[in-house]
Amino acid sequence: MPRLDVLLARNTGLSRKQVKRLLRAGRLRDAAGQRLDDAALALPPTALPRDVLLDDAPVKLHHRFSLALNKPLGVVTAQRDARHETAYACLHDAPLYRELRGVGRLDKDTSGLLLWTTDGTLLHKLTHPRYGLPRTYHAGLARPFIAPPPDFELDDGHRPVLTTLTRESADAMHPALRRSPNATHFASITIRTGRFHEVRRIFAALQSEVVDLCRVAYGGITLPTDQAAGEWRALDLHAQFRGLSPRVAPAP
Ligand code: URA
Repeated sequence: MPRLDVLLARNTGLSRKQVKRLLRAGRLRDAAGQRLDDAALALPPTALPRDVLLDDAPVKLHHRFSLALNKPLGVVTAQRDARHETAYACLHDAPLYRELRGVGRLDKDTSGLLLWTTDGTLLHKLTHPRYGLPRTYHAGLARPFIAPPPDFELDDGHRPVLTTLTRESADAMHPALRRSPNATHFASITIRTGRFHEVRRIFAALQSEVVDLCRVAYGGITLPTDQAAGEWRALDLHAQFRGLSPRVAPAP
């Protein structure tokens, strides 16, 4: 059961020592104004998030947190990178920022929906091939693509799990897709696999070329058309994926 001092440290970035000191000094109160000074007070996850007041300033105590970011172009998914700006930097004002991890990756030149969560178990399920969650992308292409053959595989032998692949008009594309002048054809593609550069490699194998790429949905969660690049929105991934079970049985 989460303890008050641990939760306060996780949610404020203060050390456990600083938290213990401020609790002893009576600087924390609940929403009704009652002093909270028992560091070991157990707060059941069902009672969280919970509003408290630290020196009269409101603080929300979260036990876990998830969000959806509209990843801008030109930033890497990594948490730290010596050369490039990171998608993680867009989340600096999010609760439990230091514990957030990306649900999979998008290339530097891909924009769109990137989920983040503090829950490692959930993260594992959302990315593991056994759960095969669908990922939908909108793509601007330099050339038309051919239909995939029945035994379609990439040059390394990987067989993408393709759910849908359709030609689309420019008007049907999500507004978060960049429109480069050399993108003359458009497509929507849904795959249940998440390999490195997979969508770009699929279109290359189908005699086309991805110029612009945007992820518009992941596991049934869609990117709102009014969510600006770099903006994040809170999301209860726990509620959304409660009861998620594998599509593929484990190998014997
Ligand atoms: N496939 C790609 O090629 N790039 C991405 O960023 C995601 C899927």
